[in-house]
Amino acid sequence: MCGIVGVLGNHEAAPILVEALKRLEYRGYDSAGIATVSNGTLDRRRAVGKLVNLSDLLVHNPLAGKSGIGHTRWATHGAPSVTNAHPHKAGPVAVVHNGIIENFRELRSALAEKGYHFSTETDTETVALLCQSFIDAGDAPQDAAFKTIDALDGAFALCFLFDGENDLLVAARKGSPLAIGHGKGEVFVGSDAIALAPMTDQVTYLDEGDRAVLTRTSVEIFDYSGAQVQRERRTIAMDSARIEKAGHKHFMAKEIAEQPTVIAEALNYYLSADEKSITLPDPGLDFAEFDRIIMVACGTAYYACYTAKYWFEQLARIPVEIDVASEFRYREPPVAEKTLAIFVSQSGETADTLAALRYMAGKASRIVSVVNVAESSIARESDIALPILAGVEVGVASTKAFSCQLTVLALLALEAAVQRGKMSAEDLAEQLGKLRTLPGLLTRALDLDEVLNAVSNDLSESRDVLFLGRGMMYPLALEGALKLKEISYIHAEGYASGELKHGPIALIDSHTPVIVFAPHDALFDKTVSNMQEVMARGGKVLLVSDKKGLEVASDGVWQTVQMPDVPDLFAPILYAIPAQLIAYHTAVAKGTDVDQPRNLAKSVTVE
Ligand code: F6R
Repeated sequence: MCGIVGVLGNHEAAPILVEALKRLEYRGYDSAGIATVSNGTLDRRRAVGKLVNLSDLLVHNPLAGKSGIGHTRWATHGAPSVTNAHPHKAGPVAVVHNGIIENFRELRSALAEKGYHFSTETDTETVALLCQSFIDAGDAPQDAAFKTIDALDGAFALCFLFDGENDLLVAARKGSPLAIGHGKGEVFVGSDAIALAPMTDQVTYLDEGDRAVLTRTSVEIFDYSGAQVQRERRTIAMDSARIEKAGHKHFMAKEIAEQPTVIAEALNYYLSADEKSITLPDPGLDFAEFDRIIMVACGTAYYACYTAKYWFEQLARIPVEIDVASEFRYREPPVAEKTLAIFVSQSGETADTLAALRYMAGKASRIVSVVNVAESSIARESDIALPILAGVEVGVASTKAFSCQLTVLALLALEAAVQRGKMSAEDLAEQLGKLRTLPGLLTRALDLDEVLNAVSNDLSESRDVLFLGRGMMYPLALEGALKLKEISYIHAEGYASGELKHGPIALIDSHTPVIVFAPHDALFDKTVSNMQEVMARGGKVLLVSDKKGLEVASDGVWQTVQMPDVPDLFAPILYAIPAQLIAYHTAVAKGTDVDQPRNLAKSVTVE
């Protein structure tokens, strides 16, 4: 988390840094700050809270200079405050940092013994002071920064700026992503290429352990051993307009509305020209090589894995183990031969998922990632990266990435079924035809916006909400609860509807809405029985089902939402829409910060 930027430009740096930070604010918004060098003098401005507070500060207290660094913070060490805000400055050096310095306590004690004084609670201040200590001992800025980087343990992306140096930045990457943008006589640094989109589409990604010495006219990159290396310069297809709200009140609303389009795009990418088979990117996969699958992810991406478990097991008859990455990485599970490992991540940078992937490297037969950010660490470290093609997702609550993850995983499960001889080519063509109807169905589900808005007004008064589902609707119940709690701050839980009677049913009372996702499928009657158990105890039920389902089961329920009919197999993708819209409208009714909910950040690059 946290976003860092840097610029050595030909124009005033402050507006450029603020614009770049705006594009990184999804990574954290506890505080923001910039530092510049003007006429050889290093100075900084910092403000608590969102970037707008820093912009306001700069209006009254501007910062001149064409060289600078900037930071938007998601607090790890030390509360959000001006003192703890980056850039951290020590003598002639200022530093911005994304990640965690694990050995900062040891370094801090050693520096304190030498008489250096600490004024913040952050790990980053240690980096600045350590660099200052090397400069004090006579090192040139670049050497001091390199010695500092060598002394650090943990995961970090760093950018250093120096007093008296109008044309020098030092940047480093270990565990947290960092991109260098090439302009004409200008150079930029950013935690991701989106930050640099308005300035340049020419980008070099640093590799693990790389450090770079930048001037306006030169970019020198060194690997962890100190050897100078060349890293590929890429042209990034980064349409900066795509991170605008396009007339919507929030990014989340825009991203929910984009789902028919992005899912259609994902289908176009993976379906063959005759739309009867699936084409995976090179080097492809041979499912005959695998006896089992392990899927690992965090949060919403984990619920996508949970849904996919049903698809892989039912369609391809292959056992699937799923786990959240933060548990998986430390549980050190034995990995049987012929295991396919699948990692799902929107950002492709989630620290726990990346660590789980690294644990599996060399143990699993193949490593597949399902990612939105094609250039991400997780994509680059896997044997095959399957893009979900959702486009830039800015809202902290994941929406279109979830449905695109589901779409790609459904395709992968179908491909596995065919390759393992569990599905005929004709049946595959039939299923692909059904998948093709999804964008149209999603558009119809989006038409329920007003109905869901009205329901959500009522829900916004609640203290607790339960979500129920059975079969593939169970992971969706979990996802619905996560979405609601993260943006509306209403306590919500998802349960397998059959599990309710084993304890959670004690929570049922007339104040606790119970949202039931139940398309009229093979499990419908079972789910309805569980719903009746809730209503018999005074629970108020919101039933989300299709025409047939509502015809037989609406009696006595509090509210209903009628969904379009959908092929059973793909219902989770369609029912994601009401789950997302309920969370969205409830949050809007409560007046919370929908796109940047409290305490959260979009990309979790710390453990
Ligand atoms: C919830 C949400 C998070 C992410 C999780 C994993 O709306 O967005 O739960 O799904 O942090 O992030 P990625 O997919 O980037 O690995």
